[in-house]
Amino acid sequence: MPPTGDTIRICHFSDLHLPLQERVPLHRLMGKRGLGYANLRILRGKTHKLAAFEALLARAACEKADLTIITGDVANLAVEFEYAFIDRLLRGSGLDPATTMVLPGNHDRYTMGSDLRSAFETGMRDWLPPGFDRRAGYPIVRVLGPVLVMGLDTAVWRNAIRSSGHVDPVQVERLRAALRSDEAKYRWPVIALHHPPFCREGRLLRDYRSGLDGASLLTNSLEGTHATVLHGHLHELSRRAMGGLDVIGVTSASNDRGDAKLQLAYHLYTFNRTGLLSAVAVRHWPDRPAADRFERADLPHEVPVNTKGVL
Ligand SMILES: [Fe+2]
Ligand SMILES: [Fe+2]
Repeated sequence: MPPTGDTIRICHFSDLHLPLQERVPLHRLMGKRGLGYANLRILRGKTHKLAAFEALLARAACEKADLTIITGDVANLAVEFEYAFIDRLLRGSGLDPATTMVLPGNHDRYTMGSDLRSAFETGMRDWLPPGFDRRAGYPIVRVLGPVLVMGLDTAVWRNAIRSSGHVDPVQVERLRAALRSDEAKYRWPVIALHHPPFCREGRLLRDYRSGLDGASLLTNSLEGTHATVLHGHLHELSRRAMGGLDVIGVTSASNDRGDAKLQLAYHLYTFNRTGLLSAVAVRHWPDRPAADRFERADLPHEVPVNTKGVL
């Protein structure tokens, strides 16, 4: 049994969406990837900034957390050079694959081809467990002192108007088995995934387009479980209690929006075996004077999702 006094720290960031570093060949810009490319050029490129992300990453790496979790949308278009670039950035920051968990988001399965070829698992292979097998490897399970961390894959290729995720019943079964295992005894469960595990009330179309299909399968299977759930995808700070689940969403790690709920940030959580002891958002404001560029703020116990928010 881990001693009650043991604490660990987890750093969490998500949704990198970095500007493209190379040209994408024209023949690879057909269909959905072409629309995504146009979106990057016209909309995303205006607020998602590489320099802002690099500064945030450097700061996050300096935290020397026991584990850093990146909850997906590592790439924009799931092109190989995006992963090579991100791999270099993560290595250059000093993060260590041994203490980092990287999960896929919908942008990492952006096209049917990238999903079929497992572009994410190939491109991020050095950041996944050794010999990782996508079919058998999720959830990625890590025993970390007083906590048990389980990272699900909810990403699946969708058509051009959808960014929604999917709950895989096989992964849910493995998750349940992990929660019943000896390793789970006397440890606090932390579940990480890209898509938030809830529907947005009165937003059926929005959930069809960008929600999590089968979310109730996951939440029903966790009924009676007390756990912390970490996610990305919404690009905004959110927190809600769902039964025994404390569900926390982090903003995009590159989005310089000038609004505290959307501004690029990482979260830092301290746990012991009884649960979450503290949760802090570290926001980066690139345009402020150097001394004020990083702002630390305790996370409120509840932060509603802005149902009109942009994904
Ligand atoms: Fe995203
Ligand atoms: Fe996403």
